[in-house]
Amino acid sequence: MKGKRILLGISGGIAAYKCCALVRLMVKAGAHVQVVLTPDAAEFVSPLTLSVLSKNRVLSAFSTQDGQWNNHVDLALQSDLLIIAPATANTLGKMANGLCDNLLLATYLSAKCSVMFAPAMDLDMHEHPSVKQNIKQLISYGNHLIPAESGELASGLVGAGRMAEPETIMQHIVNYFDGDKKLKGKQVLVTAGPTYEAIDPVRFIGNHSTGKMGLAIATAFAAQGAEVILICGPGVQQLSNNSNINRIDVIAASEMHQVCVHHFKKADITIMAAAVADYKPAQAATQKIKKKGENLIIDLLKNPDILQDLGTKKTAKQLLIGFALETQNELEHAKDKLKRKNLDAIILNSLNDKGAGFGGDTNKVTFIFKSKKNKALPLMSKQMVAETLVVEVVKLME
Ligand code: PMT
Repeated sequence: MKGKRILLGISGGIAAYKCCALVRLMVKAGAHVQVVLTPDAAEFVSPLTLSVLSKNRVLSAFSTQDGQWNNHVDLALQSDLLIIAPATANTLGKMANGLCDNLLLATYLSAKCSVMFAPAMDLDMHEHPSVKQNIKQLISYGNHLIPAESGELASGLVGAGRMAEPETIMQHIVNYFDGDKKLKGKQVLVTAGPTYEAIDPVRFIGNHSTGKMGLAIATAFAAQGAEVILICGPGVQQLSNNSNINRIDVIAASEMHQVCVHHFKKADITIMAAAVADYKPAQAATQKIKKKGENLIIDLLKNPDILQDLGTKKTAKQLLIGFALETQNELEHAKDKLKRKNLDAIILNSLNDKGAGFGGDTNKVTFIFKSKKNKALPLMSKQMVAETLVVEVVKLME
């Protein structure tokens, strides 16, 4: 982070006081910090305090008192990263809709650098569909969400809406800069989502994977300059356009296998987050199977194990990382897969951990490396898991 120019935009919420600690952490790490306050933010945290901590002038209006213009275009263009924390419901709404009635919003709209935003508000506001929609909208524009955390709020209510702690925000920043340029030009292959194995034209064997984990991984690698081939099973949500991600949609495991093998040859790094069906119906009926009798027996055939196959093809220059989704003897099974499939690392998630695995926006994982080192992470957003994975992959490449 040394020498990086970070623009910290603070909007008017009680969490603004936490920005003093955040500014200190950034300055200590060697960053050059420029603070921009919305007019309301100055009610919550003193510009003087922020100026002392950032060792810099604090800006909040389009012009200074002696009539000089605070040039928002220059501010935006000269920065390596813009962080908006706390991002109140009001500021989020304006950012999502292109409104621009203060210096911070004008700077945001002019920014060419990456933008991170850390929402902070009361829990009912945070749950409101319009706020959720605004957050979604901002993510779709390529902004990076630092999710609000759960806990006691200033109102005395308990729930989600607290701004992430300064240390957590700092971790996002470090993750962002740590991978800086190190993945430029790297080819990354990522799989996401389930596979569907046809029983007949209307039914299939599938699982609960939504592809969120794989999408987060693809996005995190692309954000660090990698060129990502993202192979998605059915039902995985569309990502906003990202020129670094080339998405290929498949349905069944056999199709995913074929596409993976084709792209694997060129991949420097492969991460298999898809939940591939281990078995498929021996024969998919060509017409809808009609209801007859009390039982229906379907013969199942083993699908190819894609990851294991790639493990046999892997060269010394390639990194191959799998996931293990377990429900019992988790570590033992994951270590067995690591070895059997010839992987450099495996990411274990267990359905016994609340908030981990399918569907949600969070996961709780343990990285298990070939070197026998383990790294257990607490429950965190899938986005954060993905960013931590990027950092670990960069270390493995070194
Ligand atoms: O998609 P989400 O809703 O966000 O959920 C994320 C997730 C739970 C799907 C993800 O975190 C995860 O754990 N993915 C792997 C699920 C799985 O199939 O695990 P497994 O232990 O059965 O398989 C081990 C590894 O082998 C995986 O990397 C899998 O992609 C791969 N595999 C498995 C079977 C098969 N026939 N071919 C494979 O390549």
